[in-house]
Amino acid sequence: MVNELVGTGRHWVLGITGASGSVYGVRLAEELLDYGFTVNLVISNAGWRVLKEEMDFDASSRESELERRFGGRSGRLIYHPVADIGASIASGSFRAEGMIVAPCSMGTLSSIAHGSSDNLMTRAADVMLKESRPLVIVPRETPLHAIHLENMLKLSRLGVKMVPAMPAFYQRPRTLEEIVDFLVGKVLDTVGIPHNLFKRWGEES
Ligand SMILES: Cc1cc2nc3c(=O)[nH]c(=O)nc-3n(C[C@H](O)[C@H](O)[C@H](O)COP(=O)(O)O)c2cc1C
Repeated sequence: MVNELVGTGRHWVLGITGASGSVYGVRLAEELLDYGFTVNLVISNAGWRVLKEEMDFDASSRESELERRFGGRSGRLIYHPVADIGASIASGSFRAEGMIVAPCSMGTLSSIAHGSSDNLMTRAADVMLKESRPLVIVPRETPLHAIHLENMLKLSRLGVKMVPAMPAFYQRPRTLEEIVDFLVGKVLDTVGIPHNLFKRWGEES
């Protein structure tokens, strides 16, 4: 299976699930690749469905679609099918810097909070928890009920960074791209990756 695209660098795991806001995951992949990281990408089946609905991704030829979308950047993309529970990122012995799940559905949030490890997405997140490595979750749903909130609280108490898909408007964004980049920048802030995706409050323009 040809699932290695371009470049080299330290490994990050990026999960895209079937919540609305697949553009967040796509922009994160672009940023991490442009930074020279190796992105280990997992996309749930529902994630592929939402990528198709929201961004016209071709889910029928997944690897060539990813190459078309992300090829040619300085980092390297490794695509792991979500059913491949034997992939490198399923093991704690694999050296990954951390994992970001963006956007994260309430279904995947629940599975991670309950340690179900029933597919590569939730297993890779479980590995981050057991190895005490950074795990960032970008939950997206509205309104939220008590189970959603309890799952977020449970993970937050374990040190998981919750970066909900909640854009801010004090920077007066003029485009959708600026709104998305604000959130992506907030995610990168939580893991200490420098970026220029938004102007910080108090910074000169
Ligand atoms: C277009 C579309 C948008 C969706 N948006 C959300 C959402 O914002 N949040 C959410 O929790 N689920 C959302 N769902 C439902 C999830 O995709 C569904 O619960 C799925 O089982 C999640 O599976 P996954 O966690 O494996 O990706 C959406 C589904 C579709 C088709």
